[in-house]
Amino acid sequence: MSIIKVAILGFGTVGEGVYRTIQSHAAEFTAVLGKKVEVAAILIKNKHKNRDVGEEVLLTTDFDEILGLPQLDVVIEAIVDKEPTFTFLKKAIARGCHIITANKEMFAHHGKELLDLSKKNNVSVGYEATVAGGIPVIQTLRQLLKINRVSLIQGILNGTSNFILSEMREKKQSFAESLCQAQENGYAEADPTNDIEGFDAFYKAMILSRIVFGEEPEWRDVERQGITSITSELIAAAEKLELRFKHVASISREDGYIIASVKPVLVGNENPFYHVEGVENAVNVHSDIVGRITLQGPGAGMFPTASAMIEDLVYVCQSRPAERNAVKITAECIGSSKTVEQKEYWLVQGLAESSGVTLVEEVSEGILLIEAAKKDLDVLAAQQPGICYFSILGEIDLSVLNKAAVTVI
Ligand SMILES: NC(=O)c1ccc[n+]([C@@H]2O[C@H](COP(=O)([O-])OP(=O)(O)OC[C@H]3O[C@@H](n4cnc5c(N)ncnc54)[C@H](OP(=O)(O)O)[C@@H]3O)[C@@H](O)[C@H]2O)c1
Repeated sequence: MSIIKVAILGFGTVGEGVYRTIQSHAAEFTAVLGKKVEVAAILIKNKHKNRDVGEEVLLTTDFDEILGLPQLDVVIEAIVDKEPTFTFLKKAIARGCHIITANKEMFAHHGKELLDLSKKNNVSVGYEATVAGGIPVIQTLRQLLKINRVSLIQGILNGTSNFILSEMREKKQSFAESLCQAQENGYAEADPTNDIEGFDAFYKAMILSRIVFGEEPEWRDVERQGITSITSELIAAAEKLELRFKHVASISREDGYIIASVKPVLVGNENPFYHVEGVENAVNVHSDIVGRITLQGPGAGMFPTASAMIEDLVYVCQSRPAERNAVKITAECIGSSKTVEQKEYWLVQGLAESSGVTLVEEVSEGILLIEAAKKDLDVLAAQQPGICYFSILGEIDLSVLNKAAVTVI
């Protein structure tokens, strides 16, 4: 039986999960591919750590040793940082290897170049693990929704942020206490900036944008806000309205432009995101034929992420059918969505008196439910720097309020 030889770059949480899964699911690989999958080499950084790997595996700190192997079919990358990762993967493609990556920061920056290079070299790129860990959202978009016109994707794409927001609500804890808990559980790094300031979700949103729309918005035009402004008071006010805070990435195409944002929003019970708790991730895909699909599951972790990568291993090793090829579609084709001119409901904190907006309810001291157009709130925010305001995805049930009468403040 012929053999597929694989190298794994990195033997941390993800790399070790991939190695163990290739061992534990050998029979499934053989059944699906008709070939044996063998890990020929593993790249690590620190020679002195003990690693539980078979003697036949080349364990090395030198990537060139891996490239020099007599047979190498697939390079699976699970290291960190943009470099040297990007350079390693370019070399692997030039050598004629398929590549698979979990590294979203690197792929958001260099994915297009790697995909272009892979086409020239007639190899494939698997990157399922870069977005939403174990949830097969990328292959759903690349392979299963090729004719549907996707108009909008929304996702809870960062498990750490979602965990912190869930803890704050359930345990009535502060942001700082919940962040500490996330760090103790191993969900957040010692430096949590990437997660709590929305960079991680932003990179994932850009990867999704390229798949669905064939392009990305200008990165500097994307509204990116983390969860650090969410206080216990805001969470309690949202609960009174039967709403929950979720950190949501949103990507749509409107009038030919890609509009994207990554920020905390409020959702009600009717929205699937309401029930996505802890480190779970979820993605809503809105498209014209099928309607809305929601995919939900583990967004990180050793085996969920390994699952994404080893399914990619099968994908790159098999003959690959044509993928989704995003065509330019007009706004009329997809129906128009909310514009900045339209009035919608917002939860607002720090709004000065005489702001000229419609007050629906003072939910708690200084925290208001108002109705306003986004463009008017943006103007107010420029004039009153202390304001924070959060939109509500979908409908709000006004019957939960004490009074229905509205006034202008
Ligand atoms: N953890 C998750 O749940 C998850 C989910 C989705 C995607 N990802 C992505 O997957 C990648 C790996 O994450 P992880 O959690 O597995 O990280 P990790 O536990 O910190 O492991 C990183 C591994 O990469 C190796 N490494 C780092 N720099 C290297 C270099 N320059 N040359 C060779 N090896 C190097 C380290 O070697 P040593 O062991 O020698 O230190 C370690 O084995 C990241 O890009 C991450 O964003 C992670």
